Amino acid sequence: MSLFARLALTLAGAMVAVLLLGAALGYVKAGEEVRAELEAARGVAVNAVTRLIAALPASRNPEADIASLVSTFNGDRHVRILMIDAFGQVRAQSALAEPDRSVPGFFVALLSPAQTTTILPMTVRSAPIVAAMVVVMPANEVAEIWGGLALDLALLLVFAVLTAVLGLLVVRRALRPLGGLSSAFHRIGQGDTRIRLAVEGPPEVARLARGVNAMAERLDGLARDRQRLAEQLSRLADEERAELARDLHDDVGPFLFAVDVDAASIRRLAEAGADPSEIVDRTEAIRQAAGHARLQVRKILGQLRPGILPGLGLVETLEHLVDAARARHPAIAFTLSVEDCDPGAAVEALVVRAVREAVNNALRHGHPRHVAIRVADGGDAISFRVSDDGGGFSRPEGERGGYGLIGMRERVEGLGGRFSVTETGIPAGVSIFGEVPLAAAEARREAAE
Ligand SMILES: Nc1ncnc2c1ncn2[C@@H]1O[C@H](COP(=O)(O)OP(=O)(O)OP(=O)(O)O)[C@@H](O)[C@H]1O
Ligand SMILES: [Mg+2]
Repeated sequence: MSLFARLALTLAGAMVAVLLLGAALGYVKAGEEVRAELEAARGVAVNAVTRLIAALPASRNPEADIASLVSTFNGDRHVRILMIDAFGQVRAQSALAEPDRSVPGFFVALLSPAQTTTILPMTVRSAPIVAAMVVVMPANEVAEIWGGLALDLALLLVFAVLTAVLGLLVVRRALRPLGGLSSAFHRIGQGDTRIRLAVEGPPEVARLARGVNAMAERLDGLARDRQRLAEQLSRLADEERAELARDLHDDVGPFLFAVDVDAASIRRLAEAGADPSEIVDRTEAIRQAAGHARLQVRKILGQLRPGILPGLGLVETLEHLVDAARARHPAIAFTLSVEDCDPGAAVEALVVRAVREAVNNALRHGHPRHVAIRVADGGDAISFRVSDDGGGFSRPEGERGGYGLIGMRERVEGLGGRFSVTETGIPAGVSIFGEVPLAAAEARREAAE
């Protein structure tokens, strides 16, 4: 059942309950009022007759006094007085006032007020009348109460209907934006994050709409970030492959070529019966070329692996990294200062990655003449700093893009450390700093194991 239908039903139920309660209370009150009013009327009439009976012995014209008493009750709303003779005949009687409105039979039956008759014996002075009858009749009182009650109930009904109709109108208006909200949630669930709702309606609903808009905007941003990240990753993978091809070509290819040339010359020398010492020189050259090729392959592997090469420590890995950068950029001065330490594989990998990214950034985005790398062991924390004098940032922070610095910060802060990027003054450049507490990294490593 819809929310609106539930509200309508609840209001209707409340209305019926209020009306029933009102009717029940009215009924109880009406019964009491009828009884009290009729009893009072009976008292007045009985008093009047009793006073007449007491005055009759001294009366000069008892018949006229009796007639006058009867006539005073003409038009009374509740009481009729009847004078009865010895044969039970009515000799005189007053006329009851007619009820001014008709009363539904069910109401009369509901109240069912009793008609009471009081008989008062008269004296010899009143002959031929022997008794006076005081008859109390509830018809007028019931009609009066019906009039009041009907008005009250009509007012109550009008009030209840008005309240219900206006309440439902307000609720229907307030609930109207909910349809838009639920369809917005549905579309967001389907992946459509471009949806924006009009901020309208009562403050609570407007707040909801604002919340949905903010959520959709954030999801939209996240989707865009994810797309950008995916593009960046695939670009990086392409770049890495291209670099690997270049490295293999430039660093390994020449040595293989040298081995080929030397092997061919050994063969020629052997066929020509040359001096064995010459052949020994050639084989020595082949050994050296193979050694260089092996070293280059190791360097390439060092760049491909995320962290440390097996068997190499932090110091050697960073030296390899700096050597490779020097070989490619002979005009730039690289200084490396690493304190020998063993912070564990996770922190070592983090430091190597961060230093490599910071050095690459300096080479890619600036024009440095000097890049300084420093890794220090503070006992309970290890810190790294990579500074360059390449000219500093070319764009303000919000417009830079890229994921290198973000990734660095996430990795360092993920291990409970702190990370900062600052722009240096003279000479202008960028300085990256990170510090990772060793205890936290150790605990994390143990938890993972
Ligand atoms: N040493 C630096 N000198 C000058 N500008 C820098 C330096 N390091 C970073 N930047 C600027 O900050 C931006 C963000 O660097 P970040 O490493 O996060 O991304 P990126 O290098 O552009 O891309 P990638 O995600 O491939 O690393 C760079 O695009 C560049 O504009
Ligand atoms: Mg970068």
